[in-house]
Amino acid sequence: MLSRRPVILITGANGEMGHGLIHQLAKEGQYDLLAIDIKELDESLIPLTAARIVGDILDQRLLERLVSEFEIHTIFHLAALLSTRSEFSPETAHEVNVKGTLNLLKLAVEQSRWHGKKVKFLFPSSIAIYGLPDLATKRQAGRVKENEWNLPTTMYGCNKLYCEQLGRYYARHYRQLAEVDDKKGVDFRSIRFPGLVSAFTVPSGGTSDYAPEMIHAAAKGEAYSSFVRPDSRISFMAMPDAITALMQLRNADPSRLTSHVYNIAAFNPSAEEFATLVRGAFPKADISWNPDLRRQGIVDSWPEDVDDTLARRDFDFMPAYDLKRAFEEYLLPNIRQRYLRS
Ligand code: SER
Repeated sequence: MLSRRPVILITGANGEMGHGLIHQLAKEGQYDLLAIDIKELDESLIPLTAARIVGDILDQRLLERLVSEFEIHTIFHLAALLSTRSEFSPETAHEVNVKGTLNLLKLAVEQSRWHGKKVKFLFPSSIAIYGLPDLATKRQAGRVKENEWNLPTTMYGCNKLYCEQLGRYYARHYRQLAEVDDKKGVDFRSIRFPGLVSAFTVPSGGTSDYAPEMIHAAAKGEAYSSFVRPDSRISFMAMPDAITALMQLRNADPSRLTSHVYNIAAFNPSAEEFATLVRGAFPKADISWNPDLRRQGIVDSWPEDVDDTLARRDFDFMPAYDLKRAFEEYLLPNIRQRYLRS
């Protein structure tokens, strides 16, 4: 029989998380990596991947072709339209974020049947699944737990929340009325990420983008006008910690996992506190405040912090970078070097 190549599949490979993740997985070197993105993969990632596909996860034929060639054991399904971008075309966002995820879950179930082992399905969810009605409630709510305030105000948040549920369904209840009890579902594991800050890439289309944009602009010597008020506060973390957390969750012993979905976070400065750090590092930084009331409304609906007790208990989540260390040891040295070179 024709043998298929065992791979880890990464969708949205060209995005911010894709970059960090591919570097980490390539370092591990356990499996070949198959990268899918709507755009040509970044040159720096090409040598790290065994195969690359430029295409749309909504393209059924592409997905079918893929399973004829590759044996997939783990999927990191990162492809999505982020929160700000999704508000400009909510129906398209729904299509990509929900239908895309459904397609991948279906592919995962089929693959599990083929090779007789549950495919691990790692899904980045988001603080966008929370929705606080006003600032007073947000302040009062403080660190929210996974099951609180699940009332997103964005299409992206709705999509992520629903896809968490789809994941749970595929993991536990898929085809529950079928005559033959097929227990080969999907091993679905999801993290609700806070805003992420990377030294190597800048996000596009998100609503937590003000923090990374501020620091990258200062390093480039460009002025930055923040689209949120100085007092805006949500949780963040440095990209390496986000990648480590995904790896820890992937590697976790299933008997320890008590949930399909976990909060994580590392620090939660206000935008002003973030700007003070940026100004400290780049004394010429020109940061001004010009809040966009609509994007501000989205940030105001996200919690000022999340309770990540479950992640710490179930898969030993422990961020290596607090805010100070993230700045001094990760962001500043790497960002300075990056813009020196270009
Ligand atoms: N960082 C994302 C966004 O702003 C949230 O997951 O859309």
